[in-house]
Amino acid sequence: MGKSTCFHLPNTNLMGVGSLSNLGKELVALGYKKALIVTDKNLVKLGHVGKVEQILKDNNIAYTIFDGVERPNPNVTFVENGYKYIQDERNKAISPTYDFVISVGGGSNHDTARSIAALATNGGSIVNYEGSNKFTKPILPWVAVNTTAGSGAHVTMFNIITDDSRKTAMTISDPKLLATLTVDDPELQLSMPREVTISSGIDVLAHAVEAYVALNATPFTDALALGAIKLVFNNLKRVAVNGNDLETRENMAYATDMAATAFNNAGLGHTHTIAHQIDGASYRHHGLTTGALLPYVLEFNAPSIPVQRFIDMAIAMGETGVTGFNAVETVLTAIRKFNETLGIPTDLSELGAKDEDIKYYAEMALKDISGSANPRQATLEDMIQLIRTCMGVESSQKPGWEQDKQFDPIAMLANNAERLSANDLNVDRT
Ligand SMILES: [Fe+2]
Repeated sequence: MGKSTCFHLPNTNLMGVGSLSNLGKELVALGYKKALIVTDKNLVKLGHVGKVEQILKDNNIAYTIFDGVERPNPNVTFVENGYKYIQDERNKAISPTYDFVISVGGGSNHDTARSIAALATNGGSIVNYEGSNKFTKPILPWVAVNTTAGSGAHVTMFNIITDDSRKTAMTISDPKLLATLTVDDPELQLSMPREVTISSGIDVLAHAVEAYVALNATPFTDALALGAIKLVFNNLKRVAVNGNDLETRENMAYATDMAATAFNNAGLGHTHTIAHQIDGASYRHHGLTTGALLPYVLEFNAPSIPVQRFIDMAIAMGETGVTGFNAVETVLTAIRKFNETLGIPTDLSELGAKDEDIKYYAEMALKDISGSANPRQATLEDMIQLIRTCMGVESSQKPGWEQDKQFDPIAMLANNAERLSANDLNVDRT
């Protein structure tokens, strides 16, 4: 049965090699006069912020710089400092006042920037807006110049800010948090260190896979998610070997935006709800956590995912000889091998997760709105067991989902019989 859906995307998205050169004329067309640049000191040093400054100068747009994003997984303090900064400048009655915010960087800088833009018009503390659709007023227009291939935050309405007091990364979602204009120029990504390239790139895979199996997936998001999976498998290892390969960087930029647009509309799942708890406590790169979690969570979700979805993903990953009987194992093995080649941790124990906090992680993960489209309903006990498994903690009790015999392929196929033709079960879809 069909259902009514709604698709969200930033208004204008400049993409591909050289797209930064078109930023100036787009800003002029929007009529902006004064920018707050939100970034970090490293990107100032690398010269990326200087390129944006030059574009603003060339087009007679005034600006000041807030470079207070001090680490990945930005926290409430960075947002509060930026909010104070924008208020201080206004109090000095500098004319014209800020009429837009422009972020230069990856997800951390984008999320800090849009949080500042949201508070500039809505007021209060960012903590007050955790959850969905809490903003009452449009945010100050936000322009995002992206320099990484990972979070895709520049094209989404999902804002992730760490609340250190609760050791959790809050999810704040609202269509008002979409950028007015984005730039994703792979030339800005040539400077990404190898480790960041890998950890960001594996997060793209987690986005695409979670979106493809999410409850709110549509044919529109499916095409983007599968396309992104294919691009990641064809390009991430290559770019890890040669970070100066511009064509490969460009392919990863497209994969990033496609996967992010897919999950922005289809939703994510428990790879991200659990990752947000570990990220909130460890400050390690988010992509390492989602990369480590993805095969475990997909395994947990498998009984609730139509097997055809696994067949489709396996083919997108370049696997051959895929049938309904081997598709789940084929996908899980392909992801695990891919992770191993790239050096992604095999479990959460080396990412700062602590045994004594497992119950807290589980409780907080179940409250995270990122999990609302997860294909399999999880109880608190399920979540505790899943996190224990992801941490490599031995358990005397067999996880509930193993007791369910989830990998009985006959049962899985029977569950999904209405979605499959006999052809799907037997044909080698290479
Ligand atoms: Fe992510």
